[in-house]
Amino acid sequence: MVGPSRLSLIATIAAVSAQLQRPLVSPSEDVLGTDRSAQTGNKPLIDTELLQAHISVESLFERAEALYGHAKSSEEQFGHPTRVIGSEGHRRTLEYIASEIDGLGEYYKSWTQPFPAVMGQVFQYRLVLGQSVPESATPMSLTPPTAGKEPVYGDLVLVNNQGCDASDYPEDVSDKIAFIERGTCAFGTKSELAGKAGAIAAVIFNSNAGGLSGTLGAPSPDHIATFGLSGKDAEPVIEKLKAGNAVDSIVFIDSVVDTINTTNLIAQTVGGDQENCVMLGAHSDSVGEGPGINDDGSGSLTLLEVATHLTKFSVNNCVRFAWWAGEEEGLLGSDYYVATLPEDENKKIRLFMDYDMMGSPNFAYQIYNATNAVNPTGSEQLRDIYVDWYQSKGLNYTFIPFDGRSDYDGFIRNGIPGGGIATGAEGIKTREEQLMFGGKAGDWYDPCYHQLCDDVANVNATAWLINTQLVAHSVAIFAASFEGFPGREITKAAGVYEQDTLYHGRYLVR
Ligand SMILES: *[C@@H]1O[C@H](CO)[C@@H](O)[C@H](O)[C@H]1NC(C)=O
Ligand SMILES: *[C@@H]1O[C@H](CO)[C@@H](O)[C@H](O)[C@H]1NC(C)=O
Ligand SMILES: *[C@@H]1O[C@H](CO)[C@@H](O)[C@H](O)[C@H]1NC(C)=O
Ligand SMILES: *[C@@H]1O[C@H](CO)[C@@H](O)[C@H](O)[C@H]1NC(C)=O
Ligand SMILES: [Zn+2]
Repeated sequence: MVGPSRLSLIATIAAVSAQLQRPLVSPSEDVLGTDRSAQTGNKPLIDTELLQAHISVESLFERAEALYGHAKSSEEQFGHPTRVIGSEGHRRTLEYIASEIDGLGEYYKSWTQPFPAVMGQVFQYRLVLGQSVPESATPMSLTPPTAGKEPVYGDLVLVNNQGCDASDYPEDVSDKIAFIERGTCAFGTKSELAGKAGAIAAVIFNSNAGGLSGTLGAPSPDHIATFGLSGKDAEPVIEKLKAGNAVDSIVFIDSVVDTINTTNLIAQTVGGDQENCVMLGAHSDSVGEGPGINDDGSGSLTLLEVATHLTKFSVNNCVRFAWWAGEEEGLLGSDYYVATLPEDENKKIRLFMDYDMMGSPNFAYQIYNATNAVNPTGSEQLRDIYVDWYQSKGLNYTFIPFDGRSDYDGFIRNGIPGGGIATGAEGIKTREEQLMFGGKAGDWYDPCYHQLCDDVANVNATAWLINTQLVAHSVAIFAASFEGFPGREITKAAGVYEQDTLYHGRYLVR
């Protein structure tokens, strides 16, 4: 990777935030004082078929080309196109969306929500356990470096239980390397406890044979350099340790964990009942490895296209669009947004719809299986709207787990009904799904997931068009009426939906 110093990167971001920062119009500053009809004129009331009829695949791909151009502006910094937070490509992405929304005139009020984001980068690493160099060794995302960014040496010390309690750490782990089994608590907790116990590094091994790659999550001053290791590579080491043999080891991680500024972008209709909003979101950022045109350029542009055509109609309920930043670093933007919503604002959001990856090349039409049994009431009604729509078009669909892998997570944890659709990431298409959707069984839904090849050619036009029509439908339905849709009952304060999900974004957390 070629690039300027971290300092100039940070300076760029700080400048962007300042530039994008417009008067922070809070959605609570209602527009009741102004004449709403003046904003909407004599526009016809929103109608799903009419709105869908405006969606064109040409327009979507024109936008995709523009987005790829923005991703290319990162080449000087990163050596390849990307729209990762902190990059010029992301800055231009935000500028593009903001200026398109501004170009729609008074129909929307829009604002930015800057927030600090933690970014980690690992430059080099090495793990030696006794005589072996385990192939599965993977530094945890957001791991700090070893002391002085130099190799550290010490014996491995097997931690008791799963290392989720300070008392699990033997006294002699001090100045040595903690060897901890996966399970019960988050990787970040284990690293922190090991650090507090005086360990100089930690290795967390999987409880099954497979490899282990995850994130330490929010940085703690007690975090220490931490690797994930497969159960297979761990097994012989555990045997040695249990037999009382020393396993002297070397741990080396050269990494940085930085805080930068980035921003969410929000646009809300001026028309419609401001106390009852349907909200939808996509993430504006990509991973550092590539331009992210399917992930999630497709969702971001779908929202922009729907927002554009919505202006031809009047709405009964407010529609709020969000472009999140930092999704790829662990749902940072959407988490920040929901966490900072005052309770009265939380209650105005009747539901949240997540649109992440709308046109995977080897797609399946996937609907989040968001049921009322384990999610805020209303989630299931939303799920069934997607079901009905695909059925009405004679299209097949599958249900996929609603397990915290995208920006809906913060919403459902805070009592807001949620759901959405997707077309698949690194999952493997089954034979049955090949019959249902075409494409190729045995391949990833998106063979370019999180890679350099996630470019304009990586979006399937058929899937993208169909799903953009469905997104338009979901907006139109709720912009017209919430009749029959459950009212908000559980509030943020209740904290009922704090579940211990395995994922937070793309990262395994425990
Ligand atoms: C981020 O923005 C805040 C507020 O504008 C500022 O105080 C802070 O220094 C910025 N941080 C960085 C790393 O640029
Ligand atoms: C959807 O989720 C419910 C639990 O909320 C579960 O009972 C059902 O089997 C799931 N359906 C599919 C197809 O995964
Ligand atoms: C739906 O899936 C079935 C196989 O389960 C297949 O025969 C049918 O052609 C598919 N329909 C469409 C529209 O692709
Ligand atoms: C999109 O997917 C459909 C169905 O699998 C396929 O027929 C079509 O060729 C694909 N389009 C592109 C451009 O790959
Ligand atoms: Zn995504």
